[in-house]
Amino acid sequence: MESLLALLRAAGDPSRLRLLFLLANAELTVSEITEIMGQSQPRVSRHLRLLCDAGFLERMKEGAWVFYRATDRDDAGQLSRAFATLINPDRDLILKDDLKRLAQVREARARQAARYFAANAAQWEKIRALHVPETEVESSVLRLLRHARLDQVLDAGTGTGRILELLSPHLRRGIGIDSSPEMLAIARDRLAKAGILNCQVRRGDVYRLPFADATAEDGFDAVIFHQVLHFLDDPQAVIREAGRVLRGGGRILIADFAPHLLEFLRNDYAHRRLGFSNAEVESWFRTAGLKPTTMESFAAPSAVQGLSVVIWVGELIAVPRARESGAAA
Ligand SMILES: C[S@@+](CC[C@H](N)C(=O)[O-])C[C@H]1O[C@@H](n2cnc3c(N)ncnc32)[C@H](O)[C@@H]1O
Repeated sequence: MESLLALLRAAGDPSRLRLLFLLANAELTVSEITEIMGQSQPRVSRHLRLLCDAGFLERMKEGAWVFYRATDRDDAGQLSRAFATLINPDRDLILKDDLKRLAQVREARARQAARYFAANAAQWEKIRALHVPETEVESSVLRLLRHARLDQVLDAGTGTGRILELLSPHLRRGIGIDSSPEMLAIARDRLAKAGILNCQVRRGDVYRLPFADATAEDGFDAVIFHQVLHFLDDPQAVIREAGRVLRGGGRILIADFAPHLLEFLRNDYAHRRLGFSNAEVESWFRTAGLKPTTMESFAAPSAVQGLSVVIWVGELIAVPRARESGAAA
């Protein structure tokens, strides 16, 4: 009872409840929270500290930025989920405003990233090759995916369509989704020039995939995020969304960076996150109902210090019952 009371005391304040509500909906930095709540930074930091100490929040320091999000573990996780269901923003003007400003902050970020991709679409292949030991990663992607059924595959954040090109001989139908028309134009051109007929790309948002819920039997066999998640403000939400369109036994493959400290990638390359730890990726998988099955890492090439690539694979253990009557992708 003592620990429950301590949790309730920590949450029992209007600003801290607002914070819990916000951080159950998004992963945010202190300056973003300050902007959304309209409170001074010291005040916000004090509330954040209290909530972190109580176990309600996870704090991730990455270079000059610190991200906060509500935990989904232990009693604190259960309690914040209960708060989230009890709180109705439609009945509370302050929370409604917080959500409106959260949407504005997200839109501003998305516009910034879109400007970057529009400006860099043509030279993306060069940037891509700079970042990673490409051929090694690609052959692992192939090896890890092709031993199981690849009837329908989704390349989320397909960019110039390279991953679809790589996988096309091994799959029946490939779909690439991207939010950037400039990137999609290059991807279409690439697929057409290579004579690839079993893959297509279309405009879409990885937060709201344009597909119905998958069922145990019907849906995507694999969803791939190749160098996409570090641009996004809520990778966990994106993995949950990808899980929604996976058939039972389907897999999510993520290729991204291991944690690093190359702060300039934020300013010059629009990265939001400086890589991900195994623990973080595995917790996304588990939250989405997937079992982490594989982790392979590729040490940084000497020319680009400090950027190691990791491939993580998770497998959907079972499609939730509620989905079993739904339509397929
Ligand atoms: C770094 S590129 C990687 C492209 C490709 N996967 C590759 O490895 O070459 C990231 C891509 O994610 C796309 N992207 C970013 N945010 C997105 C979103 N919310 N929905 C869909 N695509 C998004 C960008 O437009 C960009 O093409």
